[in-house]
Order: sequence, then structure tokens, then C-alpha cells
Amino acid sequence: MKVLVTGGAGFIGSHIVDRLIEAGFQTVVLDNLSAGCLANVNPAARFMQKDVRDRDLADLLRAEPFDFVVHQAAQTTVPKSLTDPYYDCDVNIMGLVNVLEACRSSGVKRIVFASSAAVYGDPADLPLSEEADKQPTSFYGLSKLVAEKYLELYYKNFGLEYVALRYANVYGERQTDSGEGGVISIFLTKALVDEPLTVFGDGTQTRDFIYVRDVAEANYRALFTANANRSYNISTGQEISVNELIGLMQQLVEKPLITQYAPPRAGDIYRSVLNNAAARAMLGWQPNYSLAEGLGRTLASLRQRG
Ligand SMILES: NC(=O)c1ccc[n+]([C@@H]2O[C@H](COP(=O)([O-])OP(=O)(O)OC[C@H]3O[C@@H](n4cnc5c(N)ncnc54)[C@H](O)[C@@H]3O)[C@@H](O)[C@H]2O)c1
Repeated sequence: MKVLVTGGAGFIGSHIVDRLIEAGFQTVVLDNLSAGCLANVNPAARFMQKDVRDRDLADLLRAEPFDFVVHQAAQTTVPKSLTDPYYDCDVNIMGLVNVLEACRSSGVKRIVFASSAAVYGDPADLPLSEEADKQPTSFYGLSKLVAEKYLELYYKNFGLEYVALRYANVYGERQTDSGEGGVISIFLTKALVDEPLTVFGDGTQTRDFIYVRDVAEANYRALFTANANRSYNISTGQEISVNELIGLMQQLVEKPLITQYAPPRAGDIYRSVLNNAAARAMLGWQPNYSLAEGLGRTLASLRQRG
């Protein structure tokens, strides 16, 4: 089995690559290194520096066919999508269409896509199931929702199978201080050097934090599930406030953390928690790491990095 992982030099993509290598897959990473880095790439994978928008991608895949594509490459931040909607659309929509065309014309069996909880926006009824109302509040969320529609139509029109995974807030080793769900790595990095943590809002806003290895496992299972051609929430189903998160971190680093509060950011949602029952039942997946365990592993890797 041969798999192409776009964005495989990034945070989540590199963990997916590790999981695929562990399973004995021939794995190729395609990344333009705009946010990722070579040090993240498993040495057993082959690396290709390329942009998902490059128009010769279809020629490349026809010359070297893949069984599966795992598409993680994206413009990943909500604020950037609001300041530069053109770029967000270019990478997240045009880039996806370019990847889909390459898949279709080269006979890829299935594409697994990194979607996001941002597709839902800020609805009142929590936890959100996959069928919940979708009213994205940012162009980033909109781009992921439109991307899911493209996947659905590529399946209906051309038979290209897909699984879209709507990640909650992902955290873990190799996450940088930027990105959609970087609050944990930002806070832990600051905590280690005794800098104040900036909370946007009053800290009562909630998130559903999922450890990156659990997300990699979901991607792995999505390659083989008999229940493809739909979207799944990939989450813990547990709602944690930012203030509670800081409390947990405090216990972990064993010192008081200085916190400062700033106005909420445009496009940020207030509460977020996703129901993961469908992924449990249909993908045979479940989160295996508790927040305390995942935080401990993340902190250890940050300490090691120095
Ligand atoms: N981190 C989260 O909490 C989270 C939550 C929901 C969804 N997601 C989605 O998961 C995926 C991975 O996110 P991440 O957190 O690992 O971010 P990341 O920035 O670490 O990884 C993205 C990778 O894509 C590459 N990339 C960006 N634009 C590219 C392009 N035009 N061509 C080729 N490569 C390109 C970057 O260099 C980077 O290595 C993204 O699609 C993101 O939207 C992430």
C-alpha cells in the first residue's frame, strides 16, 4: 500500500506519517514547508517539496500512482483567514481541488481529509453531532465546509471515496506556537520560561482538546473503514474551559502561572465540544490519551527541546 500525505511535515501530518510507517506503508510526504519542517518528517518516508496548488500535481500522481491520499496541507488559522481570505481560499479550496483532480485522474482509491470543528460555528446545542447546524463564523471554517462538499461531489460524480475528519482542538508534540489549536503549546512554552499566559476572553470559553496520536490513529482507521463517504467528529467529547486547562497545567509544572486577560478575538467561538459516538461506532476508534497524559507528554517534549 502506498500513501501520499500532504502537509506531512507539519504537526498532525507528521504523526500520521509515523503511524503509517509503523504499519509498514510506503509513505510519501508532500509539503511546501511554509509551516512544517523537515525535522518532523520520519526518515523512513520519502519527502517531496511541493505546493498542493502546483498544476503539475496530476502528472506527478499519474507517473507514480498512490492507493490513498491523506490531505492535511492547509492554511490553518482562523485569524489569517479573516485578514487574507484570498490566500485561505487559494490553499484550502483551490489546493484541495487540485489534489482531488490529481486523485481522480490517477486512480487513487480514497482520500482522507482534515476538516475542522470550525465548520459548525458557534451553535447553542452541545455536544455537537455531525448532523448539527453548520454556520461557520470564519472563512477558515467556511473553507473546510466547502471542501467537504467537494469531497461529496467527487464521490458522487467520479466514485473517489473519502472520509472527512472534523478535528476538535488538537495538541501534542511538534505543535508550534501558531496554528488553529496552538493554545496548549503556547501556554506550556510560556509557562516553562515564566512568561504570562494571555487569555483572549475571560477564560470561561471551552474547547475539546484531543491528543495528536489519537488523531493520527483516526486517520489510519479512516483508510480502511467500510463506513466511508461521510464526515466524523474526532474529539474527546469532554468540554474543558481555558481556566480549567490552566489549572491542570499549573499542577503539571508545579508552579503558579501568571495569567493576563485580553479581549476575545474576532471569529473565535465561545464553547466547543463534539460528540464522537459516530467515530467510535463506525471507525472502531476511541481517544486513548487523557488530557493529563497528553499534556504530560507534550510538556516533556518541550522540556527536551529546551
Ligand atoms: N491543529 C488543530 O487543532 C487542527 C484542528 C482542526 C483541523 N486542523 C487541520 O489539520 C490539518 C493539519 O494542521 P496542523 O495543525 O498539523 O498544521 P501545520 O501547519 O502544522 O501543518 C500543515 C502543513 O501543511 C503544509 N502546507 C501549508 N500550505 C501548503 C501548500 N500550499 N502546499 C503544500 N503544503 C502546504 C505546511 O508547511 C505544514 O507542514 C490542517 O488541514 C488543519 O486545517 C487542525
